[in-house]
Amino acid sequence: MAQTVTVNLGERSYDINIGTGLAVGRCLADHPAECGLLVSDSNVFPLYGDLCLRRLAEAGVAAEPVIVPAGEQSKSLDMAARIYAGAVATGLDRGSVIVALGGGMVGDLAGFAAATYMRGIRLIQAPTSLLAMVDSSVGGKTAVNLPEGKNLVGVFHQPVEVAADLATLATLPPREYVSGLAEVVKYGVIWDAALFKDLEDSAEALAARDAETLERVVTRCCEIKADIVAMDEREAGVRAILNFGHTGGHALEQVSGYDRWLHGEAVALGMVYAARLSVAERGLDADEAARIESLLQRVGLPVRWPAGEAPPAWADLRQAMQADKKTRGRTPRFVLAEQLGAVVFGCEAPDSVLEEAWGGVVRREM
Ligand SMILES: NC(=O)c1ccc[n+]([C@@H]2O[C@H](COP(=O)([O-])OP(=O)(O)OC[C@H]3O[C@@H](n4cnc5c(N)ncnc54)[C@H](O)[C@@H]3O)[C@@H](O)[C@H]2O)c1
Repeated sequence: MAQTVTVNLGERSYDINIGTGLAVGRCLADHPAECGLLVSDSNVFPLYGDLCLRRLAEAGVAAEPVIVPAGEQSKSLDMAARIYAGAVATGLDRGSVIVALGGGMVGDLAGFAAATYMRGIRLIQAPTSLLAMVDSSVGGKTAVNLPEGKNLVGVFHQPVEVAADLATLATLPPREYVSGLAEVVKYGVIWDAALFKDLEDSAEALAARDAETLERVVTRCCEIKADIVAMDEREAGVRAILNFGHTGGHALEQVSGYDRWLHGEAVALGMVYAARLSVAERGLDADEAARIESLLQRVGLPVRWPAGEAPPAWADLRQAMQADKKTRGRTPRFVLAEQLGAVVFGCEAPDSVLEEAWGGVVRREM
């Protein structure tokens, strides 16, 4: 059974198709593209590249592949230039399409290239990681990294279609899969207590990548992201709630080095931190904060700094939180929960509370 979620953005509305079989190119039925570029990485292309090229051919598109090395270091201006060169060589014009087949790295990079080549051509997202399916492929944020920092150059460019093939998750490495579950848990906390309860009830099925559970949960997460993006496409307000756990998470990634934690792992620790701040500052029930930690732990995510490994110094972490892109002035801002399914953004807290809550992430007792 396939599911369709629509992102309602007026004339830029698009469908997210969630199912099996890589249904790429449905949106091209009315406006075919004669040629296209399939951007993928060195892990994903050998697995799903041929199927994707076949699907595109069925939709009337002769696409040429551009394959970049797997890994975050490919999300660069150099790789964007490689895609532009491929686009010129293949004869892409304003009516052509770029397809991003891969995780969030490929989605952001190919999206950036599609947004800028000839001032913007059509983009189809074909996400193959859990994080990309529930988060990065939906909503139109594209970016590349600079040596000075992550996502520093980017542009909003909505895709014309998202085609999420759940079958591709079978080959996603376990650590990457579990990392993606952090964003799934996040949706329950920020928006939907019923989803949170569903995740608690189906944590084992989710960890086992049960197909029915995945279809239900990925669809619900996409509905939530679609609703939030439709309300606030450019993150002028409510879209900021998607950053629950990310102020702490980004800071942890930065001070620990980007190879220490996968994004979702750092966000899981950041959510534990935010939950503790929420108890102190927004009256979140301590039992609900404990449920957040417990669910993260049950799906295999870290909820405490590892024993036997020196944690980052508080001053460094505090400094990194202050330097976050979302910060105004010298005060870090957080998305905090008042109850499961209801959060507020733009929250500040006294330094003593910030430090005490971090102590809770570092301490061993549960
Ligand atoms: N645009 C947004 O709104 C947004 C939101 C969140 C994250 N991001 C970005 O997303 C990126 C992280 O995405 P990610 O976690 O998907 O990382 P990723 O794209 O690097 O993929 C993780 C690893 O899994 C491999 N992989 C992906 N799908 C696979 C599959 N089906 N089978 C086997 N291997 C597979 C990739 O080759 C890679 O080695 C970061 O660059 C982050 O900044 C963007």
